[in-house]
Amino acid sequence: MKENFIENESQYHMHEVEFHPTMLILFATMTGTAEDAAEMIAKRFKAAGHPVAVGNIEKYPPQKLLARNEPILFVVSTWGEGEPPDEALHFWADLSEMLAGELAGLRYAVYALGDSSYDEFCGFGRNLDLALEERGAFRLASRAECDCDHEEFIEQWCDAVNAALQNECIA
Ligand SMILES: Cc1cc2nc3c(=O)[nH]c(=O)nc-3n(C[C@H](O)[C@H](O)[C@H](O)COP(=O)(O)O)c2cc1C
Repeated sequence: MKENFIENESQYHMHEVEFHPTMLILFATMTGTAEDAAEMIAKRFKAAGHPVAVGNIEKYPPQKLLARNEPILFVVSTWGEGEPPDEALHFWADLSEMLAGELAGLRYAVYALGDSSYDEFCGFGRNLDLALEERGAFRLASRAECDCDHEEFIEQWCDAVNAALQNECIA
């Protein structure tokens, strides 16, 4: 099912673009679901002509993101009771200490994974999205809040991000 989804390029609905600055997709995971989702998202953008890099959030302190010119897509799960995966704890602590406006210029979108049987459904993704916005980052597209079968959300979310990037190119 997953392989078919990735390999059948006729399913890619995004328009081809000739050039766009390299997009960084950062994942935060405990058991690999968010990393798999990040790779699936990367394949879609690559197929649409975007240069893409995928990385673990623990290697990218938020202060380091400002030096980059490309959009950042966050693909994150939620653990505990609305908490970040362990590998996002440092990122989250650093981000929480940043001031309003400190991330002005950063463009981002959040793909949140969770399970709606928990009270804090997609709690970390939601908190991350709001914290980035509060620090001045620009939300390219609305947050996806994905339940257990997250693959059904990928196409729509990628299309929304891609449309925002296309509009930037036109503007
Ligand atoms: C112990 C535990 C706690 C969890 N807590 C939450 C939660 O508070 N909110 C939520 O939406 N999902 C919660 N989940 C569901 C995970 O976020 C979901 O299974 C996700 O797909 C895991 O992705 P990952 O493998 O990338 O970490 C929890 C799962 C476990 C096993």
